[in-house]
Amino acid sequence: MKTLFTPYTLADMELKNRVVMAPMTRTRTLNDVADEVVALYYSQRATAGLLISEGLPVSEEGRGYLYTPGLYNDEHVKGWRLVTDAVHAKGGRIFAQLWHVGRMSHTSLQMGNIAPVSSGTIPATNTTVFAWTESGEPGPVAPSVPRMLDTHEVKRITDDFVKSAQLAMDAGFDGVEIMAANGFIFDQFLSSELNSRTDEYGGSVENRQRFLLETIDAVSSQIGSNKVAVRLSPFGRIYDLAPYEGEEETWSKIGEALSLRRLAYVHLYFQPTYATAPSVAEKFRADFRKSFGGTIIAAGGFDRDVAEERLNNNEIDLVAFGVPFIANPDLVERMKHGWPLAESDRATYYGVSGSPEKGYTDYPVYQEQ
Ligand SMILES: Cc1cc2nc3c(=O)[nH]c(=O)nc-3n(C[C@H](O)[C@H](O)[C@H](O)COP(=O)(O)O)c2cc1C
Repeated sequence: MKTLFTPYTLADMELKNRVVMAPMTRTRTLNDVADEVVALYYSQRATAGLLISEGLPVSEEGRGYLYTPGLYNDEHVKGWRLVTDAVHAKGGRIFAQLWHVGRMSHTSLQMGNIAPVSSGTIPATNTTVFAWTESGEPGPVAPSVPRMLDTHEVKRITDDFVKSAQLAMDAGFDGVEIMAANGFIFDQFLSSELNSRTDEYGGSVENRQRFLLETIDAVSSQIGSNKVAVRLSPFGRIYDLAPYEGEEETWSKIGEALSLRRLAYVHLYFQPTYATAPSVAEKFRADFRKSFGGTIIAAGGFDRDVAEERLNNNEIDLVAFGVPFIANPDLVERMKHGWPLAESDRATYYGVSGSPEKGYTDYPVYQEQ
């Protein structure tokens, strides 16, 4: 019987258990640089076998939310070094999630207040990003209409990922996770609905997946493929991502392409919206498990029982928990001993107003009565 609490070897790295802390944006940095409070937050949770950082913008252009600490300059590296040292001191491991939001941004966040970029010009509706409102206050605003990237700019973004991955190594991260989930830039290229390009990055499935695969390969050449991972949310619908023609073929070809690469892991985020297409998602999951020989992390609504059932059915190797880690820094110990889990306060998931510690580093560990 497999449990969550046995060690696991991930690409030559020993993890002390199979519990992963899922990437979670917490917008706690006023100047976009990680600091001691951020380091404390991650180190409090370092009993997980692996931590994945919140999404880190790889460039100013890749930012869609205020107060998200980036990874594209020396100050960022110094900030993240505080975090990786604190995590390693507790015997933990941490990957950096590298992020470019594409169209999920606003002119007020872009240099020169120009339009954010995408595979086409369709804006995301029915959703918001966190930027500067018309009155100059921080707040939720509708994403701006994006401009279509020139071909050479697509290659430049791949380069931004490569540079950021190298900075992640300089900052002491154990690896990087390329954020290709949740409707951000790579999903915008994969979607035949959003991608209206006529160059080598649009049209056929091969063309629409080119940007993601070129980025994975370029980052792998820079830091080694065993330090590179990717997060996907196949058939995901958040941030106004609509079903598109050829979607099933797109995901099955991505699955095939990833099977040819020796990555640290592939991280699948199965969103609640999958309920709309459960059989398709199930089929993808089963096919991918068969073809991809490497480590699979799954996330989305897990508790200990469901996690261990999936481990024992050999569907996945590691399990990522998001929300449960917010109010339970000692989630691993609580699950192991069957102790009750604390509820987190949604009002403090994001934000820098008031004290950054509130709802962030002030959740206590469990005290037995
Ligand atoms: C506050 C918050 C912030 C999140 N930020 C990110 C992020 O930066 N990158 C990402 O890939 N997923 C992000 N997610 C999704 C989580 O990684 C995770 O997949 C999701 O919460 C489902 O897992 P859970 O049911 O265990 O919470 C976020 C989720 C929450 C609740």
